[in-house]
Amino acid sequence: MDGNGRWAQQRNRPRLFGHQAGARRVREIVNACPDLGIKYLTIFAFSTENWKRTQAEVSGLMMLFRRYIQKESQALLREGVRVRFIGDRDRLEAKLVRLMDELETLTAGNDRVHLTIALNYGGRDEVARATRRLAHEVAAGHIRPEDVDAETLARFLDTCVLPDPDLVIRTSGEARISNFLLWQSAYAEYEFTPVLWPDFTAEIFGEIVGRFSQRERRFGAIGH
Ligand code: FPP
Repeated sequence: MDGNGRWAQQRNRPRLFGHQAGARRVREIVNACPDLGIKYLTIFAFSTENWKRTQAEVSGLMMLFRRYIQKESQALLREGVRVRFIGDRDRLEAKLVRLMDELETLTAGNDRVHLTIALNYGGRDEVARATRRLAHEVAAGHIRPEDVDAETLARFLDTCVLPDPDLVIRTSGEARISNFLLWQSAYAEYEFTPVLWPDFTAEIFGEIVGRFSQRERRFGAIGH
């Protein structure tokens, strides 16, 4: 959800104003998913690198996440959205983690759209944490080292119950991966749009998904 800061700057407003506008976009994009045939949507809310921002911006974002959960819980439940969080929860404040856990539990019976929110998430950090957990299993004698393959490691990732992404969309004109779903995106298609996240409408989302569906995906094999 990139471009909130620049969107605010263009309006001579503080960065948090942009994040608030960005938060309001999320509902529209989530609600657009069923009609577009999208069952799984993952949004990048806060990276393991975002702690480098000013303390004011970080605490403002944390407040926004708490508020988003409190405000949107009932609507998400009603709309059939199952919410999951990925990322390292250890560094997040206890109050926020409790709200995250509650929202996951509240929506656990939903199946219309699966919304995953990446919060204190980094692809490398995720692979490192997965490897640590796997190493414990090996050390405990539950898994033999020679049985460890890509599929084994994937079972220890935060995304273990989710399918790999088919399409990754980056807003705001940046053409970088920035540590997002590194392992899972091995065969994902990428789309880059200059649109800043607070301006990213369901219509633009639909156009991008439409373009994606025209692409031929070969997964390393030979095309027709
Ligand atoms: C990146 O844009 C955006 C973020 C780091 C925050 C994203 C958070 C929200 C939109 C709040 C919604 C939260 C939830 C849980 C739905 P940027 O600030 O890096 O933009 P810039 O590149 O223009 O500075």
